[in-house]
Amino acid sequence: MAYSEARVIAGGLAHIPIIIGIFWFVNSYFNKRRNNFEKANNPVKAKPTAKPKVKAVEKPTIKKVENKVSEAKKPENKVSEVKPKSNPPATLSSEIKTVPPKSKENTKIDQKTLNKMKHADVPVNTYRPKTPFTGTVKENYSLLKEGAIGRVNHITFDLSGGDPFLNYVEGQSIGIMAEGEDSNGKPHKLRLYSIASTRHGDNFEGNTVSLCVRQLQYEKDGQTINGVCSTYLCDIKPGDKVKITGPVGKEMLLPDDEEANIVMLATGTGIAPMRAYLRRMFEPSEREKNNWNFKGKAWLFMGAPKSANLLYEEDLQRYLAKYPDNFKYTKAISREQQNTKGGRMYIQDRVTESANELFNMIEDEKTHIYLCGLKGMEPGIDEAMTKAAKEKGLDWSELRTQLRKAGRWHVETY
Ligand code: FAD
Ligand code: A2P
Repeated sequence: MAYSEARVIAGGLAHIPIIIGIFWFVNSYFNKRRNNFEKANNPVKAKPTAKPKVKAVEKPTIKKVENKVSEAKKPENKVSEVKPKSNPPATLSSEIKTVPPKSKENTKIDQKTLNKMKHADVPVNTYRPKTPFTGTVKENYSLLKEGAIGRVNHITFDLSGGDPFLNYVEGQSIGIMAEGEDSNGKPHKLRLYSIASTRHGDNFEGNTVSLCVRQLQYEKDGQTINGVCSTYLCDIKPGDKVKITGPVGKEMLLPDDEEANIVMLATGTGIAPMRAYLRRMFEPSEREKNNWNFKGKAWLFMGAPKSANLLYEEDLQRYLAKYPDNFKYTKAISREQQNTKGGRMYIQDRVTESANELFNMIEDEKTHIYLCGLKGMEPGIDEAMTKAAKEKGLDWSELRTQLRKAGRWHVETY
């Protein structure tokens, strides 16, 4: 080999480490970029750069609220996610553990299936609008005292002879089809009403259903307009025949646990399902029949315009006298009492006053909250809960989602 040829070969070989070096540099540059991209778009799948740690359960986090009270309406905008400084209350943290963020989808399905399974035996739609059951009015009387506003009646129907029998449980509703036709000459559509009796009925014989109905009345163009179905119901007489559908609804069912705590937030006729719960809990004949002896705490927040409008008051006072350790009753009488701002006293003001005690209850996983009545109260209740939760360092919108998922937050407003 000539000297010059040998120089060319040696020179070529000398470039190899340089080429390898450039290749390594380019390769590691693109690897780094790819890793960063994956990390940004899919943090779970991104390759760990440090030694991987095996985690059984992702650490729970609580959203701590840092916004001002006046901004409580929009908690989502002003929260920052932090790990709890001290241990969160035992039951809350255990609930959070059951909903780890990585498996949200699975948890959702599991909880849904679980809830469905739990209530699979609750009857629904035994009677539909095309083939309603015809019940007979047994009783229809006013629930109001002298000086009350409006018209609110307790109405009981006899369900005897139904084939199939119209069974129901506490917390469900039935549909009522008012007699007559609408302005298009068609039969009136059904209206839903919360059932106010227990499954045993007011007479404990298991063959009746009761409702608590406020007549809808409003002024339009100088005329008083009466609601179709509520007026029909307030006017019907014992012996009249009424078309009934249902039962429907699984949102407001009571838990099976005798040691559950039941917080009830009701305005006006929103007391209907609560009356059924309270009868089931505290009426001696119910307790005998049920084989379900309530041992928890029941707390009713009741909103009414005047004292004379308080519904089922005598029964509630009887329960209070007999079960002072198990029943608490807080009233908000809007046109007789004032809140701290000098406005009408609403149940959300009472919630704010009792925030600490209420949240101690909510932290217990045996506590269920039921909201029923005016749709308009929902934002007010949310605001009160947001404020109360914040005082405990909790984020209400997040907590409410957890409560709902756990089947502990029940709402039926209209
Ligand atoms: P309608 O003749 O149907 O008139 C209602 C319509 O009037 C409204 O849709 C609106 O368009 C109009 N209207 C109402 N107010 C005004 C106003 N101020 N100004 C102008 N227009 C107005 N009710 C009870 O009394 N007790 C219960 O326990 C109960 N439980 C319910 C449970 C559920 C799940 C639901 C969905 C509703 C419940 N309701 C209850 C409400 C009930 O179903 C009826 O909506 C209510 O009785 C009015 O029906 P109506 O036929 O009398 O009124
Ligand atoms: P008010 O009507 O004085 O404003 P009823 O169904 O018998 O009228 O009772 C409903 C009760 O709920 C009343 O005391 C009523 O007060 C009150 N209420 C009205 N609007 C709200 C609201 N947005 N939040 C809470 N309570 C309300």
